[in-house]
Amino acid sequence: MSEDPSRVGVIVVAAGAGERLGRGIPKALVQCAGRTLLEHALHGVLTSAVAAHVTVVVPRGDSQLRSIVAAQTHPQVTMTAVDGGSNRPESVRAGLNALPPDIDIVLVHDAARALTPPHVFRAVAACVRKGSAAVVPGIPVSDTIKVVEGDTVTSTPERALLRAVQTPQGFNAATLRTAHADPSAAASATDDAMLVEMLGIPVTLAQGDPLAFKVTTPLDLTLAEAILQAPQYAKEQQ
Ligand code: C5P
Repeated sequence: MSEDPSRVGVIVVAAGAGERLGRGIPKALVQCAGRTLLEHALHGVLTSAVAAHVTVVVPRGDSQLRSIVAAQTHPQVTMTAVDGGSNRPESVRAGLNALPPDIDIVLVHDAARALTPPHVFRAVAACVRKGSAAVVPGIPVSDTIKVVEGDTVTSTPERALLRAVQTPQGFNAATLRTAHADPSAAASATDDAMLVEMLGIPVTLAQGDPLAFKVTTPLDLTLAEAILQAPQYAKEQQ
């Protein structure tokens, strides 16, 4: 598969309410070191230069995020904004329907992973180009993870086998469309790779990055602000 960005689309899902952040506005609109989380996320997407088509999925009825999308001008990239759904898979499906039908590769990215470095987009796209139907960036976990029922621990998976999985997740476009074909089966999925796993199609792990963490809580936002103000951060954003 060629490296031609015209055959690659990125869906940036930004239609969540961000309730756990407690700001009363969509999370993607929250300011972090002078720019909104959506602007930070789009900076990573555009700097990576992997795709000629970017679709941002915004909350239904929102006008502010749409204005941010409209203000992004890039000579080689078509940017569109579409209304999202009531859960993440619905929002991804809305983004997928808005991309050109003839693309080969789709990357799905959480706007909430606002500091994801461009090299992660490139690594994921390269892995799909090499033939993987589905690719997730992941990093080892440092905590010991327990499986629980109520307040009872039922097992402890071996930590060395676990990965914390991030976005962008990359897909052969036809595979992602098939994975999302049944909305009721997809509704509870917390990521897109899970839907591909349900089809019995192998999912490949690529190298993630700790900077691709999801801004979910006020503590995450404090961390993101501190990182953006750290002098060494600029190097990561190339
Ligand atoms: O809620 P969660 O942390 O899984 O959200 C991950 C990403 O999915 C966020 O960027 C959020 O804006 C997006 N999302 C969406 N539509 C929804 C719910 C979440 O685009 N209905």
